[in-house]
Amino acid sequence: MICAGNWKLNMSPKETTVFLEDLKVKLTELPAEQFIVFPPAISLAAAQQALSGTGVGWGGQNMANQESGAFTGENSINHLKELGAQYVLIGHSERRSLYFETDQLVNEKLKLALSKNIKPIVCIGETLEQRESGQTKEVLATQLKLGLKNINSDQQMILAYEPVWAIGTGKVATVEQVEEVHQFIKSFLVEQLGADFSQQTPILYGGSVKPTNSEELAALESVDGFLIGGASLNVESFVEIYKTTVSA
Ligand code: PGA
Repeated sequence: MICAGNWKLNMSPKETTVFLEDLKVKLTELPAEQFIVFPPAISLAAAQQALSGTGVGWGGQNMANQESGAFTGENSINHLKELGAQYVLIGHSERRSLYFETDQLVNEKLKLALSKNIKPIVCIGETLEQRESGQTKEVLATQLKLGLKNINSDQQMILAYEPVWAIGTGKVATVEQVEEVHQFIKSFLVEQLGADFSQQTPILYGGSVKPTNSEELAALESVDGFLIGGASLNVESFVEIYKTTVSA
């Protein structure tokens, strides 16, 4: 069960070191490979230093759709790779809503990350308005269709279903809602890219995941892990979430 922590714009390099040193101590009895952290870009070097040889995965929260050039303020996948990152988040809802990222851009980034052997976690999800007007599946289908366009069925990635209305709001989706959407995503993947692709592509749930709600969500067969924002900023709750998935 993957537990990925999206730290967003939190955790300086110093705070990253302190957090990860503490995490390493707490992971001695747990499978470190199941943990992934996404520090802000400026703290990635600190993460690399702290996590080298531990098995804990780490990566960037975002990447440019270009490798290099006149793109002020962007982050290059080549630089992520040189530093040793194994993962990159693509299409997080905050990137989509605050920085106007489109499905086409998501697709360009995805193809670039895959070409560099960095495993992408592609995020999709509907807004409250879209859910309330009955458009959830249509929205997700479009995000998947355009976002995963021209992807080969043997390419390895992770998907994260994050309903926008559940992110940072304390409003977690119900187990029924998560199960329904994850099953929908799985059948969509079977249809578009084949059963093997669907089988090998983990689907994480994200949106107000906490130790108090993670157990019942982890018990769903269609949930392969979590993308955790707020609760990943505290070592105890981050590790506790993983532990609840083991008992689920
Ligand atoms: P949250 O964030 O856990 O704070 O809701 C999840 C995310 O944005 O990935």
